[in-house]
Amino acid sequence: MSKNLSALSGRKGLEQGLFEQLGKLGETDGTPDPEQLEQLAQSFLIGTANTYGAATFYDFLRPENKGKQVYICNGSACLNAGTQSDVREQLSRVFPPESIGEMCCLGRCHENSAFHYAGSNYSGDAIENIESIVRGGSEVADHYRVTSIGQAILTQTDFPLEACTTAIQQVLQSNPENLLADIQRSGLRGRGGAGFPIGQKLAFCRQAAGDPKFIICNADEGDPGAYLDRYLLEHQPHRLLLGMLIAGYVTGAEWGVLYIRAEYPEAIRRVDQAIKDFYHSGLAGDKVLESGFGFRFKTIHARGAYICGEETALINSIEGQRPEVRVRPPYPAQSGLFGKPTVVNNVETLAALPTILLQGGSYYASIGTPASPGTKLLSLDGHFQKPGIYEVEMGTPLEAVINDAGGFRIPVKALHIGGPLGGLVPAQKFRTLTIDFESFAQAGFLLGHASILAIPATMPLINYLADLFRFAAHESCGKCFPCRLGTKRAEELFTRAATGEQQIDPGLLDDLLFTLESGSLCAHGGGIPLPVRNAIQYFRQELEPFFKSETNYSDVSHS
Ligand SMILES: Cc1cc2nc3c(=O)[nH]c(=O)nc-3n(C[C@H](O)[C@H](O)[C@H](O)COP(=O)(O)O)c2cc1C
Ligand code: SF4
Repeated sequence: MSKNLSALSGRKGLEQGLFEQLGKLGETDGTPDPEQLEQLAQSFLIGTANTYGAATFYDFLRPENKGKQVYICNGSACLNAGTQSDVREQLSRVFPPESIGEMCCLGRCHENSAFHYAGSNYSGDAIENIESIVRGGSEVADHYRVTSIGQAILTQTDFPLEACTTAIQQVLQSNPENLLADIQRSGLRGRGGAGFPIGQKLAFCRQAAGDPKFIICNADEGDPGAYLDRYLLEHQPHRLLLGMLIAGYVTGAEWGVLYIRAEYPEAIRRVDQAIKDFYHSGLAGDKVLESGFGFRFKTIHARGAYICGEETALINSIEGQRPEVRVRPPYPAQSGLFGKPTVVNNVETLAALPTILLQGGSYYASIGTPASPGTKLLSLDGHFQKPGIYEVEMGTPLEAVINDAGGFRIPVKALHIGGPLGGLVPAQKFRTLTIDFESFAQAGFLLGHASILAIPATMPLINYLADLFRFAAHESCGKCFPCRLGTKRAEELFTRAATGEQQIDPGLLDDLLFTLESGSLCAHGGGIPLPVRNAIQYFRQELEPFFKSETNYSDVSHS
């Protein structure tokens, strides 16, 4: 990271942020013009290379985005469902081909056929009415099952404003240290993938010197197949804001910043409305409920880059820098946004805090397993009989979830759980796993953010893996060589194998995966080999014809 750039970007404060201004410049034409980028750079006393480098990073700001009118979802769930070529064909009847872009993913994994037009997302049967949508037809809300197996916390009805007021009164009457101790007692671990205890992170930030401090809600849910944060943003916004305010109170932070992905326009609108409600009711501002505690909210509209979900890339993004991953230490809790102490947490993690406030840390710790307390949201894709958002107590058998969802619509050979960096779980393992961090890690998989994608028996895995690397290469931030070059080389290897052009040399692939695992700066490059190794271990017969036979292919399944 550049400390100078952080400081220069922070000079105008969060309200007039460089990234937001970059985004606005691209709104009319789909990309800012070079003159505008130069003027913006001058106003922030930075080089044009900085504004140009940042703008050209994002899918929805780079010059290739110019003139795009409609976007097709290219996420894995829509890919597995096989719906998108029909969507493209239907859109081509109405839009010139060069005006059709792609987005990944719109979070409509439960019904597929997803596309984005004029600030709204559509899915399911909507494509059949494309002409009326273009004529100005109203937004079509999607519907999916929301249920719980065991205790429901995050899927209860959202807090009305009166309940928020009562809860905030309780916050203000608490001693911040005691409240923090209660959060630590709960054992709540981060839900964004890594499972780090939030209590520890808040404690680091509380102890860190620096002013102002920031609570960032990571709402960049980029894992294709995941839409559980989208559910919380759209249907539980008050719960989330309350959670952020609690985190602010215990750390002494003044700002709650929500970084929400561009692919979720409805979520942005719902959260913006909830923030307005909070301000109007005196629940946010310089003096929350006329107390000495001030806490303000700000939403940042992302512009299409998966890596911005990684917390340090996200911080660079808000600062308007090219969103490359930062080297740690320093950790954000010590030196984060504009070099100030910053907590970055996932939507689901923050949304669990109000329950800890109101029912106590011990209560929360009593749910789930000792090492993975609480409940977890899962998002199930359209291949389940009853797709939707499932809240389960940690420790719930995976098979119980599959049964509750009515099984699958079609024969399924594997589940891809936890996003692109998550494990590929073959059907024979479904009955052996429970939904918690430990069960997945011990079996050689990863719970991650817990999106669940079904891979149909008819889907050739070689194509699936080629697409996975296409995604990984496109989304690499490019900061470190193993990932920048390695994901691209792997994309080429798998694509050539899939088209029959060239078989994969197992030794070469093993070297490549090892280099990615051991040499990458962040979990993007470091994590992508996991599903590949799982696939090679469990689908040997299917994949063997795509590998050269003179070397030992089975060695590639283990690092
Ligand atoms: C490539 C990559 C993408 C990530 N995407 C997300 C994301 O979309 N949402 C998220 O909360 N965390 C994401 N993370 C994890 C964050 O870096 C960070 O660990 C998380 O926001 C911390 O919050 P938590 O402790 O509440 O999970 C990602 C990490 C990597 C390496
Ligand atoms: S592993 Fe990939 S995404 Fe992560 S820092 Fe390196 S290049 Fe960037």
